[in-house]
Amino acid sequence: MTRVISFSSGKGGVGKTTLATNLGCLWSKAQRKTLLIDGDWALGKLSLAYGLRPEWTIQTVLEGKKPLSECVMRIDDHLDLLASPSGVMGFEELTEEQRNQLFFELDALGTKNYDRILIDHSSGIHWGVLQFAAAAHQHVVVTTPEPTSYMDAYAIMKLLSKRFAIRDFWLVGALCTRLREAERTLNKFMETARTHLDVRVQLLELIPWDSRLIKSFGNKPFVDNYPNDLITERLERVRSRLDFAEPKKFHGLQYFFDTIHS
Ligand SMILES: Nc1ncnc2c1ncn2[C@@H]1O[C@H](COP(=O)(O)OP(=O)(O)O)[C@@H](O)[C@H]1O
Ligand SMILES: [Mg+2]
Repeated sequence: MTRVISFSSGKGGVGKTTLATNLGCLWSKAQRKTLLIDGDWALGKLSLAYGLRPEWTIQTVLEGKKPLSECVMRIDDHLDLLASPSGVMGFEELTEEQRNQLFFELDALGTKNYDRILIDHSSGIHWGVLQFAAAAHQHVVVTTPEPTSYMDAYAIMKLLSKRFAIRDFWLVGALCTRLREAERTLNKFMETARTHLDVRVQLLELIPWDSRLIKSFGNKPFVDNYPNDLITERLERVRSRLDFAEPKKFHGLQYFFDTIHS
């Protein structure tokens, strides 16, 4: 079954794109056919993370110039990328018709061709972002251990739980300079979220701050450059824990597609 995994954060610059890019590589290495979707249309740089310039983007699909299947870029044997038009408009600005068209094409293409679809969302809490996030089977929320960041993570979880009845979240603590302190802070934060939002939220992993991750951007992804590194091990744990968790069956693109038509 195709599994859709969403990466959101609220606050920008917390490491979502870095996480999604590296996980895409790890799923590909694990022989899972994976599609990475750049949901950050305002500042989309998922393709740049790989040092690629896209010929076609989501906009090409929406303008009806090409089917979605012809707009994805092949990164390697098991990894494809659907790039964003960058600076044009975002999911939040799609008309209902455009959004439905994109869902329809993604659903048709995804369920046939991919094991995993990773959506790297734009930062901020826009209605359109939430709608795409809601279509996922698994919800990864990325935050740093800073209050400004986890307060935004809280706001995303609040909206997804209240508006879309999503109850299960995976938290990734990114850009951590002091791991033990970060774990303590995020454990406290999760306890608050569980109490006030009535959600299940688990700490998936902590990713340390490391300048090599900055240098990898636009070149080879970190996990390719440093396959035996401790950070790669942490990223691999993220991948395998998401794989082993049973996704909620009633979510996913088809579920969403059904609900917007009912
Ligand atoms: N673990 C890390 N350590 C150091 N820098 C990182 C780490 N993860 C990401 N970065 C850097 O932080 C910046 C923002 O990361 P990015 O993945 O683009 O965040 P987002 O997608 O949430 O906006 C980039 O310059 C990136 O290279
Ligand atoms: Mg990003």
